Amino acid sequence: MKKINIAIDGFSSSGKSTIAKSLAKKIGYIYIDSGAMYRAVSLFAIRNGWMTDSDIDEKALALHISDIHISFKTNAQGQQDTYLNGENVEKEIRSLEVANGASRVSTIGFVRRELVRQQQAIGKEKGVVMDGRDIGTVVFPDAELKIYVNASPEVRAQRRFDELTAKGENVTCAEVLANVKERDERDTTRAESPLRKAADAFELDNSNMNMDEQLQWALDRFHKVAAK
Ligand code: DC
Repeated sequence: MKKINIAIDGFSSSGKSTIAKSLAKKIGYIYIDSGAMYRAVSLFAIRNGWMTDSDIDEKALALHISDIHISFKTNAQGQQDTYLNGENVEKEIRSLEVANGASRVSTIGFVRRELVRQQQAIGKEKGVVMDGRDIGTVVFPDAELKIYVNASPEVRAQRRFDELTAKGENVTCAEVLANVKERDERDTTRAESPLRKAADAFELDNSNMNMDEQLQWALDRFHKVAAK
């Protein structure tokens, strides 16, 4: 069976990373969460005081973009943690504040170019499952398998609400739904690499599917493509 790259795109909280992770584990591929890379850049900008509610100091960020080194390591529980310049920032990058910042820094062209360069380098040898917004359209336009994951905003907001409250964040369901819609709007309307389904992507609406069904759906497509 040949080694391929698998691009999985979709809205926030569509469940794309859950599918991407379990698919990668099942087939022995490397999983890369490209959203975590935008979150790490967001955290870096917040920590340096370059991002306020209304403004981003793009000049400072541009000057220091090459000081941002992002890597991934599997922890003792078998889950992947994100490292920013050698520091484990996995927990910190999952907050709502960092997520909002990530959505904002991801609209900046030089940030995207740098992260896309790093993502393409990771995929050079194939055998990668990468999830994000522009993986099938920009990062790996030649990916042998592309999946576009979708679910209604209400279903996605409920999932994100459950995740955040489980982590002890103090949010309301309405706040999370408003945030999901705001990020959808920004992700699909930004000038730089907006989220869209690649013409050759398979669409998976998982609003009413459990994890096993989704994994089986993805595995069926993987086996067809990789066996060719
Ligand atoms: O998937 P996520 O919620 O962790 O992504 C965080 C933000 O980064 C989100 O607002 C969209 C952006 N993003 C992007 O623009 N391109 C990617 N390939 C991945 C994420």
